[in-house]
Amino acid sequence: MSHIQNSIEGKQLSVKRLTHSYGGQNAISDISFDIAAGEIVALLGPSGCGKSTVLRAIAGLIQPKAGRIVLGDDDLAGVSARARGIGMVFQNYALFPHLTVAENIAYPLACQQVPREERRGRVEEMLSLVRLGGYGNRLPRELSGGQQQRVAVARAIAGRPSLLLLDEPFGALDRALRFDLQVELLHLQKTLGITTLIVTHDQEEAQSVANRLVLMNKGNVEQIDTPMAVYDKPNTLFVNTFIGQTNVLAGTVAQLEPEATLVTLSGGGSLTLPRRLNFTVGSDVAVTFRPEEVRLAAQPGENTLAVSVTVSLPLGPTLVHDLVFEDGTNLRASEVRGPSTTIPQTGSRLFAEIDVSRAHVFPAQPEVSQ
Ligand SMILES: Nc1ncnc2c1ncn2[C@@H]1O[C@H](COP(=O)(O)OP(=O)(O)OP(=O)(O)O)[C@@H](O)[C@H]1O
Ligand SMILES: [Mg+2]
Repeated sequence: MSHIQNSIEGKQLSVKRLTHSYGGQNAISDISFDIAAGEIVALLGPSGCGKSTVLRAIAGLIQPKAGRIVLGDDDLAGVSARARGIGMVFQNYALFPHLTVAENIAYPLACQQVPREERRGRVEEMLSLVRLGGYGNRLPRELSGGQQQRVAVARAIAGRPSLLLLDEPFGALDRALRFDLQVELLHLQKTLGITTLIVTHDQEEAQSVANRLVLMNKGNVEQIDTPMAVYDKPNTLFVNTFIGQTNVLAGTVAQLEPEATLVTLSGGGSLTLPRRLNFTVGSDVAVTFRPEEVRLAAQPGENTLAVSVTVSLPLGPTLVHDLVFEDGTNLRASEVRGPSTTIPQTGSRLFAEIDVSRAHVFPAQPEVSQ
């Protein structure tokens, strides 16, 4: 492996104000982000938010309506897809079924007119990188789904691209296999130092492989941050609810103090947040807090909400409580199980104590739909 280690040089990618529409409808608007050389970034968002469109524009498969794409020192405007030096694994993209594994991997090399002898060596190198040594003569249909995806990755990197684009590369595979391949991909990406943009709608996949996440919604970027920052400090209600689980309660800002804000909840009760929020009194807001920020108590207290227990389920090391707030809103709490943890009975009336220091408050309707 070592002889190839320095042979791929990942380049920095800059996407600047990228906009594209199909027909009259904008699929992506004003998308900007950078990926440092050798970095792995995940593009994440719900189906139809424009992820594949961003990738297609970077790969040169579509001409964006506006914006710039710069790879290393080169502006890619007017550069053909083939000349961009970008490797891509497509969403649901099959291998050439009539070509062997080795022929599939050699295909981009043949396009680059790499001499036959060198091609053979590089194919072997790629096969061992994706741990498929000895599979070169098989046809794709003689491989498992995971093995086929590894061949697709090998084919994408065989031409030593300075940027690797992966569009849901493991989407069709079961969870356990997906996890194994993610670990493998991460190792490969690190070994090669190849700049990588991976598209996924699986947030666990994104968080486990990427240095940073680009969160997209409805053709726009909502946040670019590390996986932990996106989880702990979401910029928007969309990001907060999209990443991980969260409870959302509607409320109104009732009182602003220098170091506290009182929010009355539509479903009854109130919460006092330990800081002055940037809202005016009377603003409608959404208060959010994660299940692990809720503790169940037998007695009411500060920042507690009266709830009844729908069901409490032990999930491995944690205990998950599904609760109903007075107005019918479902809430969820979770706690790490200890030897003395008791499981409350269905229907129990308890008090959910919210860790308000970690709660978030957003405008009630942050996005007016177009
Ligand atoms: N060739 C096309 N012609 C017309 N509209 C398209 C075309 N391709 C995509 N779209 C539309 O553009 C929007 C963005 O599509 P895109 O494929 O980029 O989404 P995505 O985020 O990759 O979704 P998914 O997670 O389902 O793959 C969608 O509304 C889609 O319907
Ligand atoms: Mg897509």
